[in-house]
Amino acid sequence: MILAAGKGTRMRSQKSKVLHEVAGAPLVAYPVKAAQALGANPIVCVLGHQIDEVSRVLSARFGAEAIRVAAQHEQRGTGHAVALGLEPLSGFSGLVLILYGDVPLLRESTLARMVDAAAKGTLVMLTARVAHPSGYGRIVRNEEGRVERIVEDRDATEAQKLICEVNAGIYVAPAAFLREATAKLSPQNAQGELYLTDIVPQAAATIGVETVDVDPEEMAGINDRAQLVQAEAVMRARINAHAMELATLRAPETVRIDSDVVIEADVEIEPNVTLRGRTRIGAGAFIGQGCVLTDTVVGPGTEMKPYTVADQAIVGARCKLGPFAHLRPGTDLADDVHVGNFVETKKTRIGKGSKANHLAYLGDTIVGERVNIGAGTITCNYNGFEKRQTIIEDGAFIGSDTQLVAPVRVGPNAIVAAGATITQEVPAGALAITRVAQTHLEGYAARLKARYADREKTAAEKGKPPRTDNHD
Ligand code: UD1
Ligand code: MG
Repeated sequence: MILAAGKGTRMRSQKSKVLHEVAGAPLVAYPVKAAQALGANPIVCVLGHQIDEVSRVLSARFGAEAIRVAAQHEQRGTGHAVALGLEPLSGFSGLVLILYGDVPLLRESTLARMVDAAAKGTLVMLTARVAHPSGYGRIVRNEEGRVERIVEDRDATEAQKLICEVNAGIYVAPAAFLREATAKLSPQNAQGELYLTDIVPQAAATIGVETVDVDPEEMAGINDRAQLVQAEAVMRARINAHAMELATLRAPETVRIDSDVVIEADVEIEPNVTLRGRTRIGAGAFIGQGCVLTDTVVGPGTEMKPYTVADQAIVGARCKLGPFAHLRPGTDLADDVHVGNFVETKKTRIGKGSKANHLAYLGDTIVGERVNIGAGTITCNYNGFEKRQTIIEDGAFIGSDTQLVAPVRVGPNAIVAAGATITQEVPAGALAITRVAQTHLEGYAARLKARYADREKTAAEKGKPPRTDNHD
């Protein structure tokens, strides 16, 4: 059960706090992923503030069926939230793990320790020893060291405020216990809320309480933007350390890899690379300095030279891209394709072994296999009203500085001579030339030179200064 109904006032944002992102995923996605990794089923999210937006993001990420939503329209406290969260779990009799939507750094291994400890049917709570306990609930233990209860910061006496063992707010307990215990909560406290922490003395008197200790870094809750970027730094360091088990990151402190990115073995990543969203990098690929890839799949052995930018592109094996290539959404490159500097592709499929090495725009285009696209080739895919398609079939050769005015097709093994404006289908194997025939004016260069020399002479005779840009 994930509690995420709170407003997040200190974020000072139009957007719900739990939708702010850490390493490319919204905060609320982290506890959901942790719950899924532990095999929790079903998963309930208690939502209130911006319930529609948060629900939409969750179903887009995890599927409409993955999560049951419990609505808490008025935030009357963590105990109230859990009572509402139990409603969609009416037939459920197992253990409930309670997580928070704004606590993204908890490790699966920590939660697994809690679930193991809860197998005996006790209430297991996560605690940490911190240097600055202010703001947290304090763990009050009896003379035997057993947990008696939790005192919230605002309800604590001066003596209790000195306790450095704090409540992380994460629990595992049997559903039946939680149902009974939350039904008995009352709002007799400084905030007039139903405190979930008040289930602890009830558990101490019945099923028993156990604590699992955690590194304070893991339990950090996000309340403001400074904490958001601190958490992001921790998350990125973890992601990069994990990536470096298989891949070489030349300057890991400069590389930004989102949490859902997959990197296979023997990948090499140069400085200042950003890998976003659901990007996947195949084995042995090389990602050069400054590449920015979003939701892009890169095949094994592909070499991306510096400053290549790709968004929602699919790149095959052993391709050579960049430097400065721009693959826009809908780009689909087969194996052994070359897309070189200042080439832009959009909604374009390029077949095996084809090359567009310099300065081209290929939009709404299907390119066959072994095609050569010369420098300066442009598909004129837009007539100001609609986008239209260009087809270049296998083995065709497109000469430099060609405009292909869509809709148009170049047949297999056809050749388009440099400088062409192609508006009609080029038949298979044909040569298309559209340029004006070249003519020569014999001796013209010498006549021109003589004419300018004359002008200089006349000007000098009239006392004008000589031209200074003769040789510029
Ligand atoms: C809570 C604990 C405190 C603990 C701290 C750890 C209580 C009473 N106190 O305090 O002991 O040290 O967490 O961070 O439980 N939420 C709802 N509905 C509500 C209230 C809260 O969904 O009505 C959600 C919030 O969105 C948030 C989580 O529950 O994700 C925790 O709420 P928050 O208000 O931050 O609790 P704290 O006062 O920090
Ligand atoms: Mg809090």
